[in-house]
Amino acid sequence: MGEVAPSQEYGGYFSAGLPKKHDDELLETGPGTAAGEYLRKFWHPVCLSSELTDLPLAVRHLGEDLVLFRDKSGRLGALHRHCSHRGTSLEYGIVSERGLRCCYHGWLFDVDGAVLDTPGEPPESRLKDSFRHGAYPVREYRGLVFAYLGPPDRKPRFPIYDAYLQPDDDLAPYSIWHSCNWLHVQENIMDPAHIVFLHSRNNQYQLSPRMDVMPEVEFRETDNGHGCLYVTSRRIDDLVWVRCIHALLPGFFQAGALFEQGDAEKFYTGSALTRWTVPIDDNHCMIFGYRHFSEALDPHGFGKPEECGKEIVDFAPGQTMHRDYEEMQRNPGDWEVLVSQGPLPDHGREHPGWTDTGVMMMRRQFRRALRGESEPDLHSPQNGWDARATYTFDSVLRIPPRNEGDNALVAEAGHRATDIVLAAEEPPGPPRDQAIGERIRAMKEELLSRRE
Ligand code: FES
Ligand SMILES: [Fe+2]
Repeated sequence: MGEVAPSQEYGGYFSAGLPKKHDDELLETGPGTAAGEYLRKFWHPVCLSSELTDLPLAVRHLGEDLVLFRDKSGRLGALHRHCSHRGTSLEYGIVSERGLRCCYHGWLFDVDGAVLDTPGEPPESRLKDSFRHGAYPVREYRGLVFAYLGPPDRKPRFPIYDAYLQPDDDLAPYSIWHSCNWLHVQENIMDPAHIVFLHSRNNQYQLSPRMDVMPEVEFRETDNGHGCLYVTSRRIDDLVWVRCIHALLPGFFQAGALFEQGDAEKFYTGSALTRWTVPIDDNHCMIFGYRHFSEALDPHGFGKPEECGKEIVDFAPGQTMHRDYEEMQRNPGDWEVLVSQGPLPDHGREHPGWTDTGVMMMRRQFRRALRGESEPDLHSPQNGWDARATYTFDSVLRIPPRNEGDNALVAEAGHRATDIVLAAEEPPGPPRDQAIGERIRAMKEELLSRRE
């Protein structure tokens, strides 16, 4: 390989053999890795409730092979998959009244790892009391099952997010498997440019048709360096559509109205999608999420709760692998753009620009966090509240265009609406949402009065 000449015409030869630059510090999530240890500070979704039947469920999570089950007394378990006796997979085990019994020689393991029974061992044997099988705490919440894989004495609070408190909210859980590193998938959500092109201009409309309007964009850090958001503000005739997307380390994210038509004024609606990206291992990951359905979020009724579940979600074609190749090529979606980057991203070949500011912000935050340079607040409730406030929202404001400086006006509306959401001091819940809406309305009136 000769000298690298990246700007030479027809110079593919010079870059064809460049070594890949995998950013191992960010991408490796197995036990003992820096990112893996950081990820183990959090609760993560591991399956849908509907997947726990009378049979055990084999899963892989953060590079660990596990088996999940609901025993016959209704308790949930997450155990190391291979039996502590001689290694048979407990996915072939027998769900019991209490715990899970290995099919090979009948050893019985409780949900906390206690060995309850070792049939055939002499009565005086202390073997079963001499160790515990690997086990993790599990928590079920509204159709998703979460597990915590960190040290028992560091188990965090189970977070309840404000989006769960939206009135008339119909929650539909779903999950999607991806054959790529989890960071590919997570950082995509801080990329507002792809919304305009992938989901609108370069394809048949996959979400709201108004997403093809090139927005004014602002990126902001939140949550003491453990979160970020972007605000897109679009001019749509006499209206300005402000859309704010909020993410929290490591894999949490919320999106607002997915099918906003931008055809009627509204001041504040919250999240239509609460989602987590979780590593299976370094080359595969899962998306788990809730779709939120309500009249306020989707007044035209485009959403389909019945189309949410395992390997299916109701918005945008191209969220899963289950399509014909030709259809994937003709109308690619998030699945195609993410998985086609390869199982491990090669950050060394990227050429990030301004539109990638959010992606770079997220990577920087994650690197700081896994190095211990910033600590998430996992153990005390935010402001003493029962639920955690998040900052995803949509506003559609009637602000007619002005001949000069309209882009600045549009951007200011988005910036100030976001300021209002970030500054709200009420505890999460409908009164807070209403108060935010009133403040955004007042802000709009002030913007209008300034023009007269
Ligand atoms: S290998 Fe599981 S009981 Fe023997
Ligand atoms: Fe997307």
